[in-house]
Amino acid sequence: MQILGDEKFLDDTSILVSETDSKGIIVYADDAFVKISEYSLEELIGQQHNIIRHPDMPKSAFKALWEAIKKGDVWQGFVKNRTKTGKFYWVYATIYPFGDGHYLSVRKKATKEEIEKYEALYKEMRKSEGRI
Ligand SMILES: Cc1cc2nc3c(=O)[nH]c(=O)nc-3n(C[C@H](O)[C@H](O)[C@H](O)COP(=O)(O)O)c2cc1C
Repeated sequence: MQILGDEKFLDDTSILVSETDSKGIIVYADDAFVKISEYSLEELIGQQHNIIRHPDMPKSAFKALWEAIKKGDVWQGFVKNRTKTGKFYWVYATIYPFGDGHYLSVRKKATKEEIEKYEALYKEMRKSEGRI
């Protein structure tokens, strides 16, 4: 894993996994997810997944995510996450709904081009949400 300034980068082959209950409370996280988050596993389990929400993420992105998974669809998208000390990392996430109402997120590295594209797009989305 590299750290350049405040940005962290996943290794090419890294997969970050977390599982929530039906309300978005974290019930499982793999070692790679825990490590990049800078939290301990104990600090993450039982918390709302928005514990790692980055303020640059538009609200509408998460609205679309929840609408999709609540009706049983798989959601895929780019997410900028915040670490405990205020650093950030981008991922391409796939969230799968389970029959028991739980959700599983599997994340892989986003490319430099994707990160640039979504930094700009999410900035526009924040503007239209009235946030700078
Ligand atoms: C399985 C699963 C994984 C999630 N992963 C993230 C994540 O990595 N980062 C994030 O900010 N929100 C993630 N969310 C969405 C959060 O639950 C939450 O909706 C989001 O952080 C926005 O916070 P808010 O709903 O309080 O506005 C995930 C949700 C689910 C169900």
